[in-house]
Amino acid sequence: MERTLAILKPDCVRKNLIGKVIAHIEEAGFKIVAMKMLRLTPEQASAFYYVHREKSFYNDLVKFMSSDRVVALVLEKENAVEDFRKLIGATDPKEADEGTIRRLYADSKQENIVHGSDSVENAKIEIAFFFSQSELIANGVD
Ligand code: CMP
Repeated sequence: MERTLAILKPDCVRKNLIGKVIAHIEEAGFKIVAMKMLRLTPEQASAFYYVHREKSFYNDLVKFMSSDRVVALVLEKENAVEDFRKLIGATDPKEADEGTIRRLYADSKQENIVHGSDSVENAKIEIAFFFSQSELIANGVD
């Protein structure tokens, strides 16, 4: 079964939306196979978004992503990567389709509530960023 990595971002945590967003995820048929709350250090946030290091928004993004706790989830479903991108909607909530998580809850391109992996290959890398193999094995989802 395909897996993707979701992050409920600091704005989601601050706005008390963790439960609502997880409800959307479960209602859309995703199984949560691993989940943890943590606060990223600026170094960890920089490393996670390394591909964006040349972008004008990179420093602000790192500051935002390390500004509070996040919730990281491993989600499982057939076609998980693509289906989760559809469920969350476009990066800019103003451009996101009606009913998507970002359209419903996000304030801006940066503070957009949730992250989802953009490919199966990146999902594997991002899952390994947040969850050790032994944690996944301990959960019975190695
Ligand atoms: P995410 O899906 O986590 O992937 C990269 C993140 O960079 C994105 O969500 C946004 O939070 C942020 N981002 C992307 N484009 C912009 C932009 N134009 N301005 C500010 N932040 C952005």
